[in-house]
Amino acid sequence: MEQDGNVIHFISKIENVDFKESLEILAERANINLPTLEGTVDNKRQELKEKIYQINKEAALYYHEILYKEISKPAQEYVKKRKLDNKTLKDYSIGYAPINSNLYSYLKQKGFTNEEILASNLINKVGNNFVDRFKNRLIFPIQDVRNRYIAFGGRVLDNSLPKYINSPENLVYSKARNLYGLNVAKNSNLEKLLIVEGYMDVVSLHQRGIENVVASCGTALTEAQGRLLRKYAQRVIISYDSDAAGQAATLRGLEILNNLGCDIRILQMEGAKDPDEYVIKYGNGRFNNLIDKAISLVEFKVKVLKRDLDLENINDKIKFLNEIAKLLSTVDNRMEQEVYIDKISLEYNISKEAIYAEINKLNYSGNQGKKILDNNYRKPVVIKKETLPEALIKRESIIIGLLLNGKEEVYNQIKNILSPNDFKSEKNKKIIKCLYEEFEKGNSNINNILEKFNEDEETISIITGIMAEDYEIKNDKKAIEDLIKNYQKERLLNRKKEIINGLNDESLNEQQSKELEKELHDIIAKIAHIK
Ligand code: CTP
Ligand code: MN
Repeated sequence: MEQDGNVIHFISKIENVDFKESLEILAERANINLPTLEGTVDNKRQELKEKIYQINKEAALYYHEILYKEISKPAQEYVKKRKLDNKTLKDYSIGYAPINSNLYSYLKQKGFTNEEILASNLINKVGNNFVDRFKNRLIFPIQDVRNRYIAFGGRVLDNSLPKYINSPENLVYSKARNLYGLNVAKNSNLEKLLIVEGYMDVVSLHQRGIENVVASCGTALTEAQGRLLRKYAQRVIISYDSDAAGQAATLRGLEILNNLGCDIRILQMEGAKDPDEYVIKYGNGRFNNLIDKAISLVEFKVKVLKRDLDLENINDKIKFLNEIAKLLSTVDNRMEQEVYIDKISLEYNISKEAIYAEINKLNYSGNQGKKILDNNYRKPVVIKKETLPEALIKRESIIIGLLLNGKEEVYNQIKNILSPNDFKSEKNKKIIKCLYEEFEKGNSNINNILEKFNEDEETISIITGIMAEDYEIKNDKKAIEDLIKNYQKERLLNRKKEIINGLNDESLNEQQSKELEKELHDIIAKIAHIK
């Protein structure tokens, strides 16, 4: 997975995920399910990953159970102060790592090795000692959508710094690819999904009945997280903190989500620094009102523009008019544009005519702003349908699938009987040609195959699609024999047709006719035999 860039490498680079996860992303884009790639992932690495999931789960339970014990008085007082009830603590497996936390011995007792324990990053090795990462902190385990425990955040119980420490990225944790609370939120009504900044916002809203909420955990929203949001929700509502940092994060998040074609609204909050504080202070009814009143991207941008301008100042007012015209000219939908113009005109005391005039100017100069409102979903790769029988495509796919799985024996079984040219689908032919070449070179690794299709997203999609199919092949050898038979039979049938046509040719001499008749005879016998 070095220098050069096929799609897989490209994705694994920008998303900071491993090869298999890149395939998963690609498959998700192409709307297909991936199979498990047994034999292509490093098994040892896979085993270690499994161990880390187990360790994390043990740790989450360990911390959670301690929370109810005598030694956790400070944490119990703290959660009370933050108004977290027992159900919330349980729903999110919130726990406590005491001052003299000794998760290390607990994990050793459970039979995990030092290597496994260190790989979880829950324990650090300091000199010859094993020291718990989290001490005297409230613990927020982070789970992925499959409910696996992948990381932890730990909050101090007072105002000391750092407020939170988190697990570093490791074999099972990629910060950029996960959203805190999605495992819980995904079970709620996902017409709308709220994205907030912090752990506390998620759990606090959840406790008050607002369950469709996840956190990006204080860092800039990533594209991978955006895709995750898009996958689960029809509309995403950004509800970041009301401070400057939160607003800046909102703007960055908006760009990401908008580029992904998400339907976005921005929640406007006053009188509290974050959703947690707001919902405690004003209740969930009022917070729900804020959700309903959340504004669109255009409205939000107008607001941001206005913030730095003084509309009493004539220069500022002209600038404002120019900028909103640019913004509005990107709104394709006429009715929508009119609604915005009405609103802006009213709110900022600018005549509608002035706004229209400014937009028209832009339209004539062809100087429209960047399109920000069209729903430019990144289109999944479209595989153009070839007009071939489905059964035939399926047969070819099965062979490709077996070869992609690195089945050397399958290759040996078919190489002298089937040539790439026997493949009817041009697209499959391309793949099978490459597979044959690679097998000849002894490279049956799927990485090598995919590398050959540098940037050829369509072919890579076909490959991932094939791998996604579960053809239920229980007996490779038998399956391949059947497939070969099919090909042979087809070939014979074609030849039979040719001969029958040929026999009608009057220019044939007797000798030629006899030969053809004999061949026809043989073929008919062979066909019967294949049946
Ligand atoms: N964060 C972090 N490290 C920090 C500060 C913040 O990882 N030193 C992340 C945490 O995921 C946190 C989020 O950024 O939840 C938002 O930060 P903040 O608003 O300060 O945290 P809250 O969860 O709101 O916590 P609290 O209400 O206790 O302040
Ligand atoms: Mn907070």
